[in-house]
Amino acid sequence: MRTELGRVSGPHGEVALWRRTGDDGTVVTELVVDGVFAMDDVDTSTERALATEALARVEGGDLAVLVGGLGLGWTAAAVLRAPGVAEVVVVELEDALLEWAAAGLLPGLPSLADPRLDLVAGDVACAFAPDRYDVVLLDVDNGPDFLVHGSNAGLYGASGLARALGAVRPGGVLAIWSADPSPTLLGRLADLPGAVAAEQLVLPVEREGRVFEYAVLLVRRK
Ligand SMILES: C[S@@+](CC[C@H](N)C(=O)[O-])C[C@H]1O[C@@H](n2cnc3c(N)ncnc32)[C@H](O)[C@@H]1O
Repeated sequence: MRTELGRVSGPHGEVALWRRTGDDGTVVTELVVDGVFAMDDVDTSTERALATEALARVEGGDLAVLVGGLGLGWTAAAVLRAPGVAEVVVVELEDALLEWAAAGLLPGLPSLADPRLDLVAGDVACAFAPDRYDVVLLDVDNGPDFLVHGSNAGLYGASGLARALGAVRPGGVLAIWSADPSPTLLGRLADLPGAVAAEQLVLPVEREGRVFEYAVLLVRRK
């Protein structure tokens, strides 16, 4: 059975939240942005790995983290669970998702009560204030080669990536989720001024009898 929890048309197209119950009784929540499947929560290990792998590469406490794209809230929740995190700013393009989050409809982040959490409506590309964060996490598309919004293309170009890395303090980490390994994006990250230790983690996920290779790309600011 598939039930629509919400559907809103806005300036960036339509966003819809669905809940379905599988044959085995498992409840799955699904996000569709502008008619494109954005994600579900059948396996959120890689959304959570985006947070945990980046934070594992940063030293110290009192960490400030920027998350681009709320989605179903799994990355943001993993950041809040990690040790040493003092501030989490989540920037989300779709107002509807912020409303659904406030209504407790997002399975990854059922409560917004944590005082360290700041949910902001907007385009994450406008949130790259220089030297502002210890960690910047981007999961706004299905990856650089499968954009949910064409307007996000600039994020993955050299100047967009340089601005994202510029928002990271020295010693901090920029990390990007991708539905496919991307040697091109890895090369761009490695070539950014002030970038060190660019790497790509290939993370297999089994779904419906198939194995998908998702990826998390990381780079540290010198
Ligand atoms: C795949 S979902 C993120 C999933 C999330 N990591 C999680 O754990 O649930 C992508 C999200 O990014 C949002 N988004 C797309 N472009 C954006 C942008 N330029 N700035 C902020 N959010 C954006 C979409 O509306 C969507 O909520």
